[in-house]
Amino acid sequence: MDVIIADDYACMSRTAADIFAAHIADKPTCVLGLATGSTPVGLYGELVCDCSEGKISFKNVSTFNLDEYRGLSPSHEQSYRYFMQKNLFDLVDIDPANTHVPDGLCTDAQAACNNYEKLIAQAGGIDIQLLGLGNNGHIGFNEPADSFEKHTHRVQLTDSTIQANSRLFRSADEVPREAFTMGVGTIMSARKIVLVANGEGKADIVARTILGPVTPQTPASILQFHPNTTVILDKEAAAKL
Ligand code: GLP
Repeated sequence: MDVIIADDYACMSRTAADIFAAHIADKPTCVLGLATGSTPVGLYGELVCDCSEGKISFKNVSTFNLDEYRGLSPSHEQSYRYFMQKNLFDLVDIDPANTHVPDGLCTDAQAACNNYEKLIAQAGGIDIQLLGLGNNGHIGFNEPADSFEKHTHRVQLTDSTIQANSRLFRSADEVPREAFTMGVGTIMSARKIVLVANGEGKADIVARTILGPVTPQTPASILQFHPNTTVILDKEAAAKL
């Protein structure tokens, strides 16, 4: 696991964007695994700039997002599909048909999850996966549990995640109780992983992720076993390393 400590959020975002831009430049047909949350907003902004300046093109890039709330439509302002449209897809030259986010409204959850895994495999697997870090150590929506879930699945959100994410909804009552997420196995199959985290609120969980025991109670700790993971932090998030 490589750890890069950037001076600040802007620098963390640019450092991560450089890794993604280099992948896209090297392999214009690459398959990106993407994440939502506040943390990657700056990184997406950098990639949008790179694209508008002609340094990279998403024309032949495919994307698979980590997760989606169950029950939210793509047009719901808090859905992850909506987030991706506003922060990246609508702002670059990507083919909409090549963008994938789990369907929050699917009726047959098991079939939809199996199909998501199949689509990733058909695309050749994920070349580079972006991750944020939940306050409780979740990656995607893989919550602390007694075991690691391997494949894309439906998940119950924990109270701590509902509370943490309620800041984006009018109230905690409006936060969906369930979601669809790539499994830990899906994530670990990516050829490269980039995890970004910023702010003092993430310092404890960053330390547990990088230095603590590998345990499903801290899902992100599994990344210690991934052969090609880069963690990019600002100084505040790195304070307890
Ligand atoms: C959500 C997402 C995660 C994300 C996490 C952290 O719960 N499912 O993929 O990493 O929040 O979000 P933030 O970057 O806003 O701290």
